[in-house]
Amino acid sequence: MDVTQAKARIDFLVKELNRHNQLYYIHSNPEISDFEFDSLLKELSELENQFPLLATEWSPTQRVGSDLNQSFEQATHRYPMLSLGNTYDFNELDQFDQRVAKGLEGQLYQYVCELKYDGTSISITYENGKLSKAITRGDGTVGDVVTQNVKTIKSIPLELTGDFQKVVEFRGEIIMPHAAFERLNKERINNNEQAFANPRNAASGSLKIQNSAEVAKRGLDSFLYYVISDQLKENSHFEKIKKAASWGLKIPQHIDRFDGIDQVKNFINYWDNERYNLPFDIDGIVIKVDSAQQQEQLGMTAKTPRWAISYKFKAEQAFSKLMTVSYQVGRTGAITPVANLEPVQLAGTTVKRASIHNADQIELHDLHLNDTVIIEKGGEIIPKIVGVDKTKRSAEFQKVKFITHCPECGTELIRIDGEAKHYCPNEDGCPPQIKGKIEHFIGRKAMNIATGEATIDLLYEQGLIKNVGDLYQLKKSQIARLERFADKSAENLILSIEQSKQVPYHKVLFGLGIRFVGETVAKKLALSCPSIHELRQKTFEELIQIEEVGDKIAESIVLYFQKPEHLELIQRLDEAGVQLKGEVAEAKGEQLKGLNIIISGVFERHSREELKTLIELHGGKNVSSISKQTHYVLAGQGIGPSKLEKAQQLNIPIIDEAFFENLIKP
Ligand code: IVH
Repeated sequence: MDVTQAKARIDFLVKELNRHNQLYYIHSNPEISDFEFDSLLKELSELENQFPLLATEWSPTQRVGSDLNQSFEQATHRYPMLSLGNTYDFNELDQFDQRVAKGLEGQLYQYVCELKYDGTSISITYENGKLSKAITRGDGTVGDVVTQNVKTIKSIPLELTGDFQKVVEFRGEIIMPHAAFERLNKERINNNEQAFANPRNAASGSLKIQNSAEVAKRGLDSFLYYVISDQLKENSHFEKIKKAASWGLKIPQHIDRFDGIDQVKNFINYWDNERYNLPFDIDGIVIKVDSAQQQEQLGMTAKTPRWAISYKFKAEQAFSKLMTVSYQVGRTGAITPVANLEPVQLAGTTVKRASIHNADQIELHDLHLNDTVIIEKGGEIIPKIVGVDKTKRSAEFQKVKFITHCPECGTELIRIDGEAKHYCPNEDGCPPQIKGKIEHFIGRKAMNIATGEATIDLLYEQGLIKNVGDLYQLKKSQIARLERFADKSAENLILSIEQSKQVPYHKVLFGLGIRFVGETVAKKLALSCPSIHELRQKTFEELIQIEEVGDKIAESIVLYFQKPEHLELIQRLDEAGVQLKGEVAEAKGEQLKGLNIIISGVFERHSREELKTLIELHGGKNVSSISKQTHYVLAGQGIGPSKLEKAQQLNIPIIDEAFFENLIKP
């Protein structure tokens, strides 16, 4: 195939894939099977690899995102991103309607009603029909540029179709549908990561992931509900939005135009019930004056338009009976009381448990067993108790008494002054705390050992590990014997444990799980005490001299090193070869900021590991595979011929060690 033929085929494939993408993600009406779609995509991807100069940033192959870490630039919105005034009852809604009527001085007007999507808002600009920029709301004036991530969302077209405007900006909401949310949380729990509290947090969190290939897997969706263009002739929000749909955008599907506020109320009542049948969360209805010219006449207040308002649904409540209270012990020993309820339907799910948070909440509601309690589901997954129907209480109901001893290990609980929660102080002998400590230790930000909660539970229950020191004594044969393990997976785990011995000291320090010593504090501690033995010798007064270390942290560190079992553990880790000392590498400059550099071959003055560190210390990124996003190929002796060829093809400068040293000169 020559270049001309390739170009024709690529153009065809791009168009065809975009069309099928829309049919699938916007109109839920696919014409071809997933398999056929994937074959077309594969063909396009292969052609682009063969003819890299013909690949564009808007190709459907870009939807999969990239593994390169991006840092987000900030950008100022061309027009500020406003928020809406809220109303919570029909009375307030009537007042809004009266203000509109007054502002429009007797003119007739219509309202458009839309669902209020519960996600995170976004501004997307298309120039010459091509998606050019996506910016988060930020503070309304300045937001983060998340274009690469937004391009992975399948319901957002990379190119517009039809008679689109030269420059047009859309405002809308990025949401995570329930199915994607549940899948994501399940995966996170399996990987020992914190679950997201609700789809809204999951959507906004996903949009800020640095690796767009990861965003592509999150199953985000979008609705665009506002068009900004000075060239549109339509004098109606409703018509403008329909126009946007004709350009291939996903607009609100449940949208209607009404003549008066009473019809608006019907729409609200309908969705107050129907919302539980939607595959995503909404938290209300948005009501907008339809005419663009009337919108202008009404204008805005400092932060919100006078021509639109949101009606917020109340969190749904239900009554249930409090049967028992159980107590959960967390990784840090914190005790959380949980209400076990008579099963009841609430917001589309059956609820059997509700969170009570802490002892104060029990007092606040003066909870008694058998009480009829009011539960509410806000944005969080687990509902909470918000009240008690005291008229239903009998004299024989027993007052709920907070436990005095740990339900897991029997140790007497303590409550630290100023804290709402009770704690089990038996941090090295209480099973959930032991397991939690080990899980924290293996986590990605600490020792990065490739396994999860389930395996730790198993190893603990089999008596193979009682603290993090035991990990380094594990034998492959012991693991291979366990359920769900095979020879290969056991070997991988042993290998990963072995590799963790290279993890730098400050991460080990974080991994130990000393109370209040988070990632940043661990780094600061390692910076001023470059070995754990030095840290151990510091007094409270010396510790509080260290940046970021206050009384609470200093006290906790002193306490930690007072316990003989901790000293013994440190000794064992030391013997195993874990890094318990070492300089913390501090950034040395920004000469390589934003640059992706590949290292290939063997060098005279530095090892590859050293070069990698140097790149990172100067703000650059060491990447492993060559692409259009690569800025330099740092080549040594014996660089692979295919890398060289690809670099030349993509016009990427190939530099040597001396050139690199020059680049990072202060
Ligand atoms: S209109 C000036 N329409 O609700 C136009 N907003 O406080 C302002 N939202 O941050 C927005 N669904 O993220 C509009 N159909 C909808 C919406 C919607 C959700 C969000 C939006 C905004 C907040 C309003």
